[in-house]
Amino acid sequence: MKRETIDLEAGLEELPRVAERMIEQIPEDAVIALRGDLAAGKTTLAQAIAASLGLEESVTSPTFSLQHAYGNRLFHYDLYRVGFDELAQLGLLEEFERPGRHLVEWMDDRLKAFLAAAGYNLWQVTILPEGDRRIYRIEHLNA
Ligand SMILES: Nc1ncnc2c1ncn2[C@@H]1O[C@H](COP(=O)(O)OP(=O)(O)O)[C@@H](O)[C@H]1O
Ligand SMILES: [Mg+2]
Repeated sequence: MKRETIDLEAGLEELPRVAERMIEQIPEDAVIALRGDLAAGKTTLAQAIAASLGLEESVTSPTFSLQHAYGNRLFHYDLYRVGFDELAQLGLLEEFERPGRHLVEWMDDRLKAFLAAAGYNLWQVTILPEGDRRIYRIEHLNA
């Protein structure tokens, strides 16, 4: 069966609408891979989702410089060049057990496979440039 995908297009000024649509679409307990090249807009999207939820970044735990927490319900990770073994050593894999939405930049295939096998609700948002705008392709990986 073909997986359902939702494509949204937005410039910066329409990003709040896209963020709200994603919050409606993706349930609270989910891990969401944010995919796209450097400067695609992954971090900007994470910040827009936080803003739509009315959340500000909490003081980042010194142990987890790779994780930004927004209250107790939204977590954002930038895992550029951080391998699966390193994540495990740092104890970050357990972080995904916390209730809430976990947005992950640069999720690698090993982490994706681990999360899928562990039964996490796994989503993917791929950001594609379209002129000076972006297309946001939303997919539920284990629907
Ligand atoms: N929907 C959008 N439309 C136009 N520009 C955008 C959009 N989203 C992000 N940008 C711009 O793209 C640049 C890179 O964004 P950033 O979120 O840092 O990318 P990434 O985290 O993917 O490397 C920033 O200048 C940002 O303002
Ligand atoms: Mg980024």
